[in-house]
Amino acid sequence: HQNSPATDWLFLALGESRGRSSREPKEGDVRLSGSSSPSEGRVEIYHQGQWGSVCDDDWDLSDAQVVCRQLNFQGAIDAVTKARYGQGTLFFQSCALDDVGCSGQEQKLVSCRSSGWGVNNCGHQEDAGVICDPQSMLTLSDSVFSLDHSTTLSEDLGIIYDSGTACDFLITFQTSNGTKQEDGTPEETTNTICAHKAILMLYPYFSASVGENNITVSVNTTCQSYSTSIIRYLYTRQINVTYSSAMCLHQLASEFGLRKLFEDVGQVISKSLPNDASFYSQVSLYKYAVETKDLILRDSCVQYMAWNFQSLTGSPVWADLPLELLHSLLTRSDLVVPDEYFVLQVLESWITNNGSSLSSEQQVDLLRLIRFPMIPAEKLYDLESKSLLFSAHRDLYHDSVLKAYQFIVLYSTLTKSQLDQENGDYKPRIYTGETWSTAIDSSKLSSSPRRHYYNSQRYGYGSYNRYYDSPPPSSQISFHTSLHGIAACENSRLTWAANVFKTSDDCSREGVHCSSAPAAKLSMQNNNLRRNIRFDNRVLLTCQNKYICQIQAFRNNMAHIDPALVYPCPDDNYIYTFAVRPEFV
Ligand SMILES: *[C@@H]1O[C@H](CO)[C@@H](O)[C@H](O)[C@H]1NC(C)=O
Ligand SMILES: *[C@@H]1O[C@H](CO)[C@@H](O)[C@H](O)[C@H]1NC(C)=O
Ligand SMILES: *[C@@H]1O[C@H](CO)[C@@H](O)[C@H](O)[C@H]1NC(C)=O
Ligand SMILES: *[C@@H]1O[C@H](CO)[C@@H](O)[C@H](O)[C@H]1NC(C)=O
Ligand SMILES: *[C@@H]1O[C@H](CO)[C@@H](O)[C@H](O)[C@H]1NC(C)=O
Repeated sequence: HQNSPATDWLFLALGESRGRSSREPKEGDVRLSGSSSPSEGRVEIYHQGQWGSVCDDDWDLSDAQVVCRQLNFQGAIDAVTKARYGQGTLFFQSCALDDVGCSGQEQKLVSCRSSGWGVNNCGHQEDAGVICDPQSMLTLSDSVFSLDHSTTLSEDLGIIYDSGTACDFLITFQTSNGTKQEDGTPEETTNTICAHKAILMLYPYFSASVGENNITVSVNTTCQSYSTSIIRYLYTRQINVTYSSAMCLHQLASEFGLRKLFEDVGQVISKSLPNDASFYSQVSLYKYAVETKDLILRDSCVQYMAWNFQSLTGSPVWADLPLELLHSLLTRSDLVVPDEYFVLQVLESWITNNGSSLSSEQQVDLLRLIRFPMIPAEKLYDLESKSLLFSAHRDLYHDSVLKAYQFIVLYSTLTKSQLDQENGDYKPRIYTGETWSTAIDSSKLSSSPRRHYYNSQRYGYGSYNRYYDSPPPSSQISFHTSLHGIAACENSRLTWAANVFKTSDDCSREGVHCSSAPAAKLSMQNNNLRRNIRFDNRVLLTCQNKYICQIQAFRNNMAHIDPALVYPCPDDNYIYTFAVRPEFV
């Protein structure tokens, strides 16, 4: 979709947030020092422009939990004492905080009870440390996205808002915080903002132009804290959005009818999709997007789940995936899976688990989305004995397998209109299995000076190493694909060469013209192909070995990686997976 200037801004901000050290520390930030592991060390807290350590009096696991969570680890393994990670030197002679007592539920260490800044009776031999659970590191920290929908004048209007002078319209944000008063009615907290009718007349929601002079908006306690910034946005059309404020702002933008804000905040929300490895929040965001009719957010959720389908099928939410979500995933050609047989297997077990709640028609509707002609021939032979549902849907399987055989044997005689007619059935998805793809782990590629060792790791499919004596020709990996299930082509193995260029120096050293870096190259080495096959290949970027953050097509064998990744990644050591996709034309 086209990017408005405002979303360009957003992508710019994202690009910057990927730089590792670009973020200035803020009051109350914590960090770990004195250890080579990022998940353990001496606790230091930022206060009045300086980092200071924390005293170990009363230091225990609930304090460590808060520190680890503040650092985006999901939990703590241990709270350590007596300066096990060395003594801090940064904060004068004493510790910053002493007698820290967290309940464990706090968001930040500064929110915990303590004897106060610099008030303590200990020295640096008592510096506290933590060991966090390294496995559960969330990949993205809270970033700030500055949205600017203003044209001109906005600063001046911001001043008018801030001063509150001559305001004539009261906006009350009212919550019920859950506690009941003695008479049984829920207790409410209110926050009233005085605004200007002249501005609010621009927004029909407030009815300021038809003579109203106040309005009450119901919000929950969390969202109440963003009421000032959203009303200020009505004046300035500028707002800073973070992952933590995004849900509230999205909801308020929807309520106030602020379409542009609604959509852009939806995009910020979609950037946070990789944050949850359990897929719980992706599915609930999908449901929320459907409910609020944010189609861009809905599509982004579905796309993320399609790209990371294999992880989704292994996640706890898989069994309870909403039917219509599963249906829309299975229609997609950008579903990333080892091969089509994998899709059939996971769908069959999903249906088997949910058999009682699905009608026979619903099961058939789902099974029809399997691209049987893409299933390797040897798997088709076994289908009748291996399939969980063959006997329950005999007709469908017979027809589909027959159609697949016909394609395998006769594909070169099928006409274009016959192929088109069958929708996606003859079109590969993005297959990452053996006969379709290879992978290069870019973190193992050395840039200059050259090293003579290259390691290419097949993502999820075992690994192999290469050692070049000298000189190393290039980072090029060659691999073979077959025209998959097509029996008639079994002998026509295709040989491909795949390269990753991390920098433009890498390109020029290999004599390749790159218009930007990083870039990936995929070229076919043999040229004896039948003319009715065309390749629509893809390169996939896997971030931190965890999730696919970008998929791009090739143009003239090259794919220049777009710096505005579809889903953000904290570093650029991607695994590049090259997926070959033959299409029959
Ligand atoms: C609800 O608000 C009242 C009054 O502001 C406060 O005393 C009470 O602790 C709040 N309850 C919760 C659960 O936050
Ligand atoms: C809010 O507006 C209504 C009518 O629009 C009026 O009756 C009421 O007094 C107003 N409340 C305040 C606090 O101004
Ligand atoms: C957004 O944050 C930046 C940097 O902290 C600040 O300069 C700017 O005023 C903020 N904008 C708004 C609308 O709050
Ligand atoms: C408040 O509402 C927001 C937006 O709908 C939601 O994300 C958040 O979880 C809610 N918070 C509470 C405490 O219910
Ligand atoms: C699938 O089965 C699980 C329990 O096994 C159930 O909770 C879930 O709602 C079912 N899903 C559908 C779409 O019927």
